[in-house]
Amino acid sequence: MVSVLVVGGGGREHALAWKLARSPRITRLIVAPGNGGTAALNAPLDPLDVPALVALALAEAVDLVVVGPEAPLAAGAADALAAAGVRCFGPTAAAARLETSKAFAKDLMVRAGIPTARYRIFEDPAAAAAFVRGVPWPFVIKADGLAAGKGVFLPHSLDDALAVISKVMVERAFGEAGAQIVVEERLDGEEVSVLAFCDGRRAVPMLPARDYKRALDGDLGPNTGGMGAFAPALSLDADALAAVQRDILQPALDAARELESPFVGVLYAGLMITDEGPRVLEFNCRFGDPEAQVLLPLLDADLVQIMLACVDGALCEDMVRWHPGAAVAVVMASQGYPGPHRLGLPISIAPVADALVFHAGTCGARRLQTAGGRVLAVTGLGGDLVGARERAYVGVDAVQFDGASWRRDIGAPPGLRS
Ligand code: AMP
Ligand code: GLY
Repeated sequence: MVSVLVVGGGGREHALAWKLARSPRITRLIVAPGNGGTAALNAPLDPLDVPALVALALAEAVDLVVVGPEAPLAAGAADALAAAGVRCFGPTAAAARLETSKAFAKDLMVRAGIPTARYRIFEDPAAAAAFVRGVPWPFVIKADGLAAGKGVFLPHSLDDALAVISKVMVERAFGEAGAQIVVEERLDGEEVSVLAFCDGRRAVPMLPARDYKRALDGDLGPNTGGMGAFAPALSLDADALAAVQRDILQPALDAARELESPFVGVLYAGLMITDEGPRVLEFNCRFGDPEAQVLLPLLDADLVQIMLACVDGALCEDMVRWHPGAAVAVVMASQGYPGPHRLGLPISIAPVADALVFHAGTCGARRLQTAGGRVLAVTGLGGDLVGARERAYVGVDAVQFDGASWRRDIGAPPGLRS
């Protein structure tokens, strides 16, 4: 029997707690700091305070720590827990460089022969500016380090590109994350996320998922933390998924192991399906948010067993099974998100069949209130995408708070704006 501490306080962590609680092996579940949806399980914690995290894990004598977000992993949460003798589902800071340094990830991909866009890395703004003046391909510019999803730019003109280089490298709009930039070929195609459970040696992929980063319908408006998701994403069939496993996920794991940084946890490959096949846009070192809110409800397996097997280097493909059907998650955000927004507004939620509510920016157990930009996600479940989407939007209609905003086109066929 196993007691588990989940670190984080977003919708992803609520979904993790919801799924872990369904394991027959679980005896105790703590979420730190959690949110209004996990109120009965919450313990106070600043997830970036690694010594406090280790102290909490030891004081509560938990058997497993599951780290949701990337920032504590980048800060060495998994390393410190291992040193204290606590099992941690999540990579070491060195292995997490697949997400925390785009330059590291690019170099590793080239060494391992993983298909990705052409690129150049720059530490000197003048050299970067000279390169973009002459580069013959359309490009994007990426800050090297963590920038909370805001460090990728698709410039419209040379002037725009030069302004981005100056903002990131000279003004350091993202601090040290902008010490290096990657100038990368701009790719066209459909985006798909393939997440995989990893035990250091093996990667077992989950269902392909699709997320929606832009604030407004039709992929317009500013980038956000994610406004919705669905799974399975049918643009990758079983053969294509097997090819992603063989040509992308496994080589990445092998390369990380060769660097003596075996990757344990969830490796997330953000892919562009181009005419020449899938290309990696980015790796993340943890579950996606809101991808977790569609993948975990579809997982027909014991998540505690899978996570322990990952930590112990004993993952098997047959541990990871899926319910048939589909899931669609619609994020409900505060008015104004991703810009300034009001907090502390009362929320009411009526139950809906085949729909789950995963909280993110909420607080208060009996008197639930908004406490963030992305307030919650409603996940609809159905026999197919159409059915799951219908359940998700019925669920959205059953949630009320002042100024609630959400996209109407999550899971809709391209071009549909219902
Ligand atoms: P990333 O954080 O690297 O995934 O980038 C965020 C978003 O920027 C991606 O989801 C894509 O929509 C876009 N993007 C990143 N890299 C490229 C690229 N090489 N070509 C076109 N779009 C890109
Ligand atoms: N949904 C994108 C991410 O979690 O990075």
